Amino acid sequence: MPMKENPKEIKSNLEYLRKLFIMPDSPDKFIEFGHDLLEMIHGFFQEKGGIHSSITLPALSEIFDQTAVPDSPKLIKDVLSEIKTKVINHSVKVGSPYYIGHMTSATPYFMILLEMIIAALNQNQVKIETAKASSFVERELVAWLHQLIFGRNDKFYEKNIQNHRVALGNVTSDGTLANMTALLVAREKAFPHDGDFPGLRMAGMERALRHYGYARGVVIISKRGHYSITKAANLLGIGEENVITIPVDNHNRIDLKRLRRRVKNLQEGKGNGKTKIISIIGIAGTTETGSVDNLQGLGDIAYEAGAHFHVDACWGGSALLVNEYRSLFNGIERADSVTIDAHKLLYCPMSMGIVLFRNEKDLRLIRHTSQYVIRRNSVDTGRFTIEGSRPFACLKPWASLKIIGREGYGLLFKQAHKSTNNLKKILDSRGNFETLNTPELFILIYRFIPETVREQLLAWKKVKASAEKRQKAKEIERKIRKVNHLINGLNIKLHKALRRDDTSFVSRTTIESTRYRPQNIVVLRAVLINPLTNSQVLKEIVETQNRIGLKIWQEFEPVYHRLRDSGPGRVNELI
Ligand SMILES: Cc1ncc(COP(=O)(O)O)c(C=O)c1O
Repeated sequence: MPMKENPKEIKSNLEYLRKLFIMPDSPDKFIEFGHDLLEMIHGFFQEKGGIHSSITLPALSEIFDQTAVPDSPKLIKDVLSEIKTKVINHSVKVGSPYYIGHMTSATPYFMILLEMIIAALNQNQVKIETAKASSFVERELVAWLHQLIFGRNDKFYEKNIQNHRVALGNVTSDGTLANMTALLVAREKAFPHDGDFPGLRMAGMERALRHYGYARGVVIISKRGHYSITKAANLLGIGEENVITIPVDNHNRIDLKRLRRRVKNLQEGKGNGKTKIISIIGIAGTTETGSVDNLQGLGDIAYEAGAHFHVDACWGGSALLVNEYRSLFNGIERADSVTIDAHKLLYCPMSMGIVLFRNEKDLRLIRHTSQYVIRRNSVDTGRFTIEGSRPFACLKPWASLKIIGREGYGLLFKQAHKSTNNLKKILDSRGNFETLNTPELFILIYRFIPETVREQLLAWKKVKASAEKRQKAKEIERKIRKVNHLINGLNIKLHKALRRDDTSFVSRTTIESTRYRPQNIVVLRAVLINPLTNSQVLKEIVETQNRIGLKIWQEFEPVYHRLRDSGPGRVNELI
């Protein structure tokens, strides 16, 4: 479908527009377009070349620089060909086996077909009048995932699976909204109706704090928490400053000892008066390292503190489908709420989140009604959701759990696990890399660091640990920091060069390293869930990073030598 220089302008007439609404011109035309479109999509996947297309961002802004809304209509085929040239050709190939940088990855092709059904039916999940069978599909999916997490008895699910008086959870447009829904419920539970006080949702935060005699309300999460929690705190009037972050242990899991101490201090009102702990949040699959908090321990602390226990399992939650992974999540069944993203480990296309509540009555706390939809005694799903209109997105995970099944997901996760271990092995054997986490759920962080520098840092760390004089230890520490700072610069430059090379993609983040804390370390981050990524692909990716890394290192090396050999406590004296 080559793009025409001057696509034909057509005259608007109602007859033509009417035909668009039923089907373009005739059913034949619809099928013809559908066929062309599928070929166009297929072509995108077959195309060789870079991951990101070589077009620059300024050039892209020149393509999309029309400042006014189009006036006269154009033919569908012309606009489709415009989409191909302007959009598809410059889209990111997130499904490429060489794209291992983000949680956004390949999806099975049947998802495209499901998206067509979703668009064709155009159900609006807000109310039964616009979503009949699809409301029941949603409730069934919600019950499946609820059962997977909380494992309540059969009677509970038989009673509630299609019980419109309660909601076991909500399907949301993404994980951010799912987390926000969980915290909205937590906020209501923290400041409930009490005598003359009508509850927080009616009275607002200030009156709620005053009524219950608190100076502030907080939520607590580890330093690895996703920024959606801060966003929710902002939007729910809790305040971003009232998100308390707790350091992690050496495995990137929340440090339970420090959490306990912090909770105690908050409850004793040390410093700023009494604090209400609205929620303690565990993470089951952190965004940066894929680690799972000790949910059992967190559950105990949350229970003792009288706080809502929320688990952000947006990344990892789907691994509960597979028995081998269940022990990682021990304690999740005690959570009050859990969030999972379907567009992550369920391999659905963008985007769909889900929030589940152990107590089927919890969502009643945020129930809304209105006269024209979601009437008081209606069966409408929209009574329990933050969002209004919602697509029939749940069809994708619902169908996918049938097509792929728990067994199929087990195989996909096995492959993801294998790829993650493979990459770690390749990097560890290559010499010039330092892997920085023990991956639990398919995310590996590492950095490029020439072997001699890595060995030097190790040697310094040993000397520092055994240094008798504090002064000497401090000097070595300063050197380690300076070298790490230099290596941070090297990895930023390497990442930029890799973007230009564009044959593969890993992401980059800066993280307070568990190995060099409290220093922030720039790391490369690989997310290894594409089943088409094999060990040959991984070797090629590492080879490219090594080649480009060593080239850039030449600029950095003289500075490193100066750093290493300069100042008091020169290297040879230190070791
Ligand atoms: C742990 C975690 N929670 C929440 C989210 C937010 O999800 P979304 O991007 O779907 O809003 C993410 C996204 O990466 C995540 O990793």
